[in-house]
Amino acid sequence: MEIKRNSQIKTTSTKDLFGLMPDGTAIYAYELSNKNGMKLKVITYGATITKLEMPLKNGEMVDVVLGFDSLESYIQSFNLPSPPYMGATVGRYAGRIYKSTFSLNRKKIILNKNDNDNSLHGGAIGFSQKVWTVKDIHSGKKSSITLTYSSPAGEENYPGKLEVELTYTLSKENELIIEYSAKTTEDTVVNLTHHSYFNLDGHLSNVLDQELIVNTHRMLETSVENIPTGRFLEIENTDFDFFAPKKCPSKIDNTFVLDRKDEFAASLFNKKNNLKMTVYTNQPGVHIYVGGNCFNAIKGKANADYHPLSGICFETQNYPDAPNNQNFPSAVLKKGAEYTHNTIYKFQSF
Ligand code: GLA
Repeated sequence: MEIKRNSQIKTTSTKDLFGLMPDGTAIYAYELSNKNGMKLKVITYGATITKLEMPLKNGEMVDVVLGFDSLESYIQSFNLPSPPYMGATVGRYAGRIYKSTFSLNRKKIILNKNDNDNSLHGGAIGFSQKVWTVKDIHSGKKSSITLTYSSPAGEENYPGKLEVELTYTLSKENELIIEYSAKTTEDTVVNLTHHSYFNLDGHLSNVLDQELIVNTHRMLETSVENIPTGRFLEIENTDFDFFAPKKCPSKIDNTFVLDRKDEFAASLFNKKNNLKMTVYTNQPGVHIYVGGNCFNAIKGKANADYHPLSGICFETQNYPDAPNNQNFPSAVLKKGAEYTHNTIYKFQSF
């Protein structure tokens, strides 16, 4: 039965205290909704998405992202041997930088290590663990929130002071639109992404029955340490070929090359509730992540037991380790230039 939506429903926004950082800084939770009843909850810790509720055609709602109920759980998750970066904004550099070093303008930059000898997702304390500031919030025609973070020069040893701005918008077409921009005071490198674990069936279920499409025939070759070798792999008819819909893999941690201009990057479909998510981006890659050992000990929202198959990440981004690979798209942001990244997660209930 199709439930008629009340077209009088307005977009809304609310602000609540979510918790206190160890130094007493208040972390707020903002909730936005669009006219269809789609809801987004964002906290100022890591500009993290803690909830994304989608209205289904049958009138039910499903929260399609994993998360925690308390700030303490988000903070503590970064002490796990393999932190999940649950719902977080990742920067300055998403993915691994080999041996935590690269050259820029003939100078050797040595970053903090946090993944064996490598630097992962921005280093020891990346953007996912920073307190962001809310600059703007709209709940009229447009339902959006803009957060900023000012990363001091030398943070995690990255050159230049980097001013980052991020806007989450809920469109009336049930899209979550993420727009990032950044400016630097000195030449630097930047690669931002979003790290939600999606599950179109809600966080209690696993993603194995959901159908994945990745709209490409190429991915990055990686070493055993999951560092790109610089070579590209043709994946047609291999286990990594998701060009035609296939069940989600139980373990994957790979970057796919997006070379089909103006086409979608990837999609996920749950036939149990007929909900589909399509990912669009202006970035050259999508890193897809399922599995890993990071969930064995994790209690999620409403005391749910999370496990390696609870969710799938679609990390739209430049390639990991681009600063060390001349043949990858450049990750350098010049002083005075602007980094822009747009990603859309679009939801359709059939
Ligand atoms: C990315 C990495 C993974 C893992 C997760 C976070 O997807 O490629 O290896 O570190 O982030 O747990």
